[in-house]
Amino acid sequence: MTITLITGGSRGLGRNTALSVARRGGDVVLTYNSRAEDAQAVVAEIEALGRKAVALQLDTGKVSGFPAFTEKLRATLSDVWGRDTVDHLVNNAGHGDYASIAETTEAQFDRLVDVHLKGVFFLTQALLPLIADGGRIVNFSSGLTRFAYPGYAAYSAMKGAVEVLTRYLAKELGPRGIAVNTVAPGAIETDFGGGAVRDNPEINKHIAGITALGRVGVADDIGPMVASLLSPDNRWVTAQRIEVSGGQAI
Ligand SMILES: NC(=O)c1ccc[n+]([C@@H]2O[C@H](COP(=O)([O-])OP(=O)(O)OC[C@H]3O[C@@H](n4cnc5c(N)ncnc54)[C@H](OP(=O)(O)O)[C@@H]3O)[C@@H](O)[C@H]2O)c1
Repeated sequence: MTITLITGGSRGLGRNTALSVARRGGDVVLTYNSRAEDAQAVVAEIEALGRKAVALQLDTGKVSGFPAFTEKLRATLSDVWGRDTVDHLVNNAGHGDYASIAETTEAQFDRLVDVHLKGVFFLTQALLPLIADGGRIVNFSSGLTRFAYPGYAAYSAMKGAVEVLTRYLAKELGPRGIAVNTVAPGAIETDFGGGAVRDNPEINKHIAGITALGRVGVADDIGPMVASLLSPDNRWVTAQRIEVSGGQAI
């Protein structure tokens, strides 16, 4: 039995990943930022699958909260599982912020840095002693690091940095047997970015038209892929950026 820690597991791709891991027989610690009820609903769904799950609050953009979170996680692992480590860390939590380069404010930029880059770096650092040797880390990036859409410059720059960070993590953690990869989804129908990809018919149709498999992605296209990447089937895959976009903009 494995324990997978997933940030931003209350909705969207993190929720789907949590359920996919549970369907494969794994237990889950998921975090949420503001939506405690949604997170508890995911916990209940995982328990209904016969697996254990716990939801913990965490703002991944606030490094000052990481020591307290780490202690809470340590206590939870001990109380619920009698363990002092997790097997997998999935750095998924994040928000979209649409603005042209000309209109991006310093506050928007700083929040994107905090959540998408600084948070991923320092949360992973804080959790290094709590990730089991032989474990896995998956960092979420985006198709937007390969192709460019006006309005996503600052967001995509952070994701590009995470892809570089992934390779360095793979190098430094390799001696502990820890594999580290980036999953880069294409446009997926979730609440992300105000739900535009899902709710705006013009955007949805446009993306479907430039996607080899002929439609926009859904959460079920991503979670099972991440769960499979975490399985022993993929134990020799490390330092890779794996795009999961149905062939968007190829
Ligand atoms: N959907 C797409 O088209 C797409 C494409 C490429 C990459 N991605 C990436 O995939 C990841 C998940 O996106 P999604 O589509 O699942 O988004 P989503 O449906 O909006 O869900 C976002 C999740 O992240 C959590 N979260 C957001 N900001 C947070 C913060 N500061 N601290 C802690 N948790 C935070 C939310 O928690 P609460 O529920 O508590 O607010 C929620 O669980 C993100 O990294 C995103 O950049 C998404």
